Amino acid sequence: MAWFAVKTNPKFQTKAIDIRDDRMMLVTGAAGFIGSHLVDRLLHEGFNVVGVDKTAPGERRFLHQAMESPSFKFFQCDLSDSGSVATLENFVRSNMKVPIDTVWHLAANSDIASGIGNPRLDLHDTFMTTFEILQMMKRLSIPRIVFSSTSAVYGETRSMMHEESGLLFPISAYGSMKLASEASISAAVEAHLESAFICRLPNVVGSRATHGVIYDLLGKLKKRRDALDVLGNGFQKKPYLHVSEVIAAMMFIWKNARQSRSVYNIGPKDDGVEVRDIANVLLKAAHLDIPLRFANSDRGWVGDVPRFSLSIKKLVELGWEPQTTSIENIRRAAIEIAAEFGF
Ligand SMILES: NC(=O)c1ccc[n+]([C@@H]2O[C@H](COP(=O)([O-])OP(=O)(O)OC[C@H]3O[C@@H](n4cnc5c(N)ncnc54)[C@H](O)[C@@H]3O)[C@@H](O)[C@H]2O)c1
Repeated sequence: MAWFAVKTNPKFQTKAIDIRDDRMMLVTGAAGFIGSHLVDRLLHEGFNVVGVDKTAPGERRFLHQAMESPSFKFFQCDLSDSGSVATLENFVRSNMKVPIDTVWHLAANSDIASGIGNPRLDLHDTFMTTFEILQMMKRLSIPRIVFSSTSAVYGETRSMMHEESGLLFPISAYGSMKLASEASISAAVEAHLESAFICRLPNVVGSRATHGVIYDLLGKLKKRRDALDVLGNGFQKKPYLHVSEVIAAMMFIWKNARQSRSVYNIGPKDDGVEVRDIANVLLKAAHLDIPLRFANSDRGWVGDVPRFSLSIKKLVELGWEPQTTSIENIRRAAIEIAAEFGF
């Protein structure tokens, strides 16, 4: 049957995991920014993929290419709802001829600022999706999970953020529900999972963005072209990595990390870039020469961590190194997203 007729990819024959061509992957948040790129990458590597998403803010059109593949199936549902997840489970039981090998859990609320006004967003879309997915994995005996966590779990700290940092005090509902999700995943490893790969991502940029600084500022430029209002004083400085490198790093961790609970920061070569430099790159990408206007606050919104440094030493020691700096990633993503906005 075409659905399972996939090719072997020798690149995936690693020592850490015995990867076979009939392996089935389940990606949550599949219609989102990072999830849709991950689906494309997994299909390209020869895996069968089930994508799950409630498609808001994710969009079906991001899966346009995947939908054409006989190795891809899409299931629309709200993963925070136990009834919907039971329906997904039945779908998996009746349609999948081979068991699911790994869940790539990316579904979450990705709008940190909205979660401050309405923390239930993060409770439902970030924590409850994790809780329900873990329950389903137990019932279906799925052994592995890759989780897209975030640097936001570290909260606001002056010291370098590294995986052994603690105690952790996140300052947003988003960060707190990601940390709670990590804790639930850890407990599930003790109870039923074989291994968990927790990837703490930096700011991710690239085409199909549904949010983020480039998306927001280009959106403003679409509406108003006399001046560009930037959130905060512009001195916020964060690391940015292109979505393609983030996915490469997540797959590297999945293939090579050996602990039952693996936690890795992922980041670019450098410490980051300031928001005012990003704004200037975007004006150039939009072919505009207009003034930038800054606010007085040192941060963009409540819960924003304005400046941080993410250590990627542990990941480099595992054998993966980023190829790019934050400003290079911003420039690349600015061109991609400006084209999507029609500049
Ligand atoms: N983009 C970044 O800069 C960044 C940084 C760190 C971590 N992450 C994490 O990476 C993951 C993907 O982020 P993204 O930037 O692609 O965001 P995104 O919003 O584009 O993707 C998340 C997807 O999850 C789906 N979703 C949300 N709640 C759901 C629910 N209850 N049931 C089913 N689907 C649901 C959304 O429809 C969306 O398609 C998230 O877990 C996010 O927290 C992203």
